[in-house]
This record gives sequence, structure tokens and C-alpha cells, in this order.
Amino acid sequence: MSAPSLVVLTGAGVSADSGVDTFRTAGGLWDRYDWREVATPEGFAADPGKVHAFYNERRRALPGVRPNAAHAALAELEARLEANGGRLTLVTQNVDDLHERAGSRRVLHVHGELAKAACVACGTVSVWTADLGTEIPCPSCGVAGAMRPHVVWFGEMPRHLDEAEAALGEADLFVSIGTSGSVYPAAGLVAAARARGVDCTELNLEPSANARLFTEARYGRAAEIVPAFAKEMTW
Ligand code: APR
Repeated sequence: MSAPSLVVLTGAGVSADSGVDTFRTAGGLWDRYDWREVATPEGFAADPGKVHAFYNERRRALPGVRPNAAHAALAELEARLEANGGRLTLVTQNVDDLHERAGSRRVLHVHGELAKAACVACGTVSVWTADLGTEIPCPSCGVAGAMRPHVVWFGEMPRHLDEAEAALGEADLFVSIGTSGSVYPAAGLVAAARARGVDCTELNLEPSANARLFTEARYGRAAEIVPAFAKEMTW
């Protein structure tokens, strides 16, 4: 029997055990920053320096964190499924690169990537590990002041939704890990999965806003419950 196809949605909780901030947990980013100021196009227009400072701090922290056992288990499960005719599509809301650093290959960053920058003048997206600022010229068109973090802000359209929906159309199981289920359209994937009759599992520290929609749930730290869940995955 060939292996199943999975769509796995991850949020900030999967990287929490690596020391990456979450957003809405106590002491999280939105406790310390006003998201309207640092994560909206309007905030960027009003004070680009403040927005750059927010993402520069997070980008500088990336080399200092490592994938945890949850990231590793998902990469291992992807390889095991793919080797047996199955598939794992990882839809992540996270802008960190920990899934890729753990070895995951089919990763859709629906909210963008911290280690990339975009030029609003020419549209070029560049790999970016240094600080960004209003004086920085685009490496492609040379325009200064047009560079922005390659992340999706509130009010902007997430990316790769069509690929995520297409993967859901083929899925046998939908798994949601480490997300509060409060930001749409990503939070709407579980309802879309249920509407297709796909089983849905929640792995989180606590019940999310959509907990009632899941057919199975396990609560605990991702670094503990995801490896156990992946290990039990047989077909
Ligand atoms: N293991 C498992 N789950 C955890 C852990 C952990 N160690 N720590 C926290 N969690 C859970 C919390 O209980 C919470 O439900 O992870 C979830 C994190 O929720 P949020 O902070 O709201 O993050 P997320 O759901 O990814 O946010 C979605 O909102 O701010 C925007 O664009 C940003 O992508 C982000 C989106």
C-alpha cells in the first residue's frame, strides 16, 4: 500500500522550542510591539526605520537558533513518505528557515521569509542576511529606499495558497502544529480540509481557536509531541 499524502500547517509554536518568539503567547512579539506599526504596509509607510529595526533584530537572531526535534521529525517523515509513494506538503506561516535547515524540501512560506528582501521598485527578491535600511540600494536595479522585508504583512495577500489548496485536494490527512488559528486564510485550511472529508489532527501547546474542527488533538510541546506523532505514522 503506498504511503499517505499529508498537508502539515505550522506556526510559531513549532519554532518556540528553538527559542524563536511566538506572537500571541504571553510575552510574545505582539505583547512587546504594536503589529499595526511593524507589520502593516501603513506602518512601513509611516516609519520604515522602525519596521526595519523590528525585522533586523529577528533576522540577526536566526543564525543563533537551531531546528528542534519537531522540525527534524517533519523532515524525516517527509523523506519516509516520499520514499513510499506518499507526500508531505509543509505549509508554514513562519518566516524563519528552520524547516529547511532541518531538511524539509517541500516548504511553502505563506507569510514570506525573513532571510529574503524585496525591492518594491523592480520586484526583485534577493536572499538577504544583513540588516536592511532605507539607505540600502536594490542589488538589481540600484534604487535606494525601495527595499522591504520579504514578509507578508497584515492586509496583504499570503503566498502559495493555490499550491496549498491543490495539496489539500490530494491529502489523506491534515495536521496543524503550533498555531493559534487566529490568522486567516491559513486558519481556514482546517475547515477546507474537513469540507473535503480529510481527517484533521491538531498538535499544539493548548487548544487553538479552531480546536473544535479537529478530529484528533494532542497537546504538549512540539519538540515532544511531533516526533511521537511522526513515529506512529504507519500505513
Ligand atoms: N509547542 C507547541 N505549541 C506551542 C509552543 C510549543 N513549544 N509554544 C507555543 N505554542 C502554541 C501556542 O499555544 C499558540 O497556540 O503556538 C501557538 C502560537 O500562536 P501565535 O503566536 O498566534 O502564532 P501563529 O499562529 O503562528 O501566528 C499566525 O500571525 O502574527 C501573525 O504573520 C504572523 O504567521 C503569524 C500569524
